[in-house]
Amino acid sequence: MNSINEIIKTRRTIHKFLNQRVNEDELLDCLEASLCAPNHKLTDPVRYYLAGEQTRKNVFDFLVETKQNKSGPLDENQMLSFEQKFINPSHLVIISQALNPDPLTSKEDYATVACSVHNLSLLLWEKGIGLKWSTGKKIKSPKLHEITNIDIQKESIEGLLWIGIPKLTPPSPPRAKLNELLKRLN
Ligand SMILES: Cc1cc2nc3c(=O)[nH]c(=O)nc-3n(C[C@H](O)[C@H](O)[C@H](O)COP(=O)(O)O)c2cc1C
Repeated sequence: MNSINEIIKTRRTIHKFLNQRVNEDELLDCLEASLCAPNHKLTDPVRYYLAGEQTRKNVFDFLVETKQNKSGPLDENQMLSFEQKFINPSHLVIISQALNPDPLTSKEDYATVACSVHNLSLLLWEKGIGLKWSTGKKIKSPKLHEITNIDIQKESIEGLLWIGIPKLTPPSPPRAKLNELLKRLN
């Protein structure tokens, strides 16, 4: 796989990972390159947090608790699938956005966050490494900010990035065709 076109078209969000380690230097190289995202006014809004063992455990416990509060106690099978989902990925990177009081800057900064995640996803995909960008209500929880030592007054968590060797690559979801979305203007 080499052309950027092919990497973009074949990349998928990975939900199931093998219990295999990714070379951390390779990951760090990709994180570094991902920062070359477009960034209006060069505000540098992206913050990455590479979770160590204790943080992984705390995030796992937080996710179990959040799920149980929502849908009741997990049975043995559900717990097993939860473990595979959140323990198998080689790395967990938490991405946050440095807060800016100006709403327009904040919106543009989120665009940079999104571009950085996509850069990262493509850079990893080129090396056979998968990523899942996980969001939802849970990432806005003060408890998650507390666990990760991220000051909620200064930064906002924008994703849990689960990274590892894909166990299963899902089929491509249906996408709109260009001719459905493109209008030629005079
Ligand atoms: C801002 C954003 C948030 C996302 N959050 C989640 C999420 O919480 N859980 C999830 O499974 N996928 C999440 N995704 C991945 C999308 O569901 C996925 O990109 C979409 O289904 C298309 O699949 P693909 O990435 O394989 O092309 C998110 C994607 C974006 C851009």
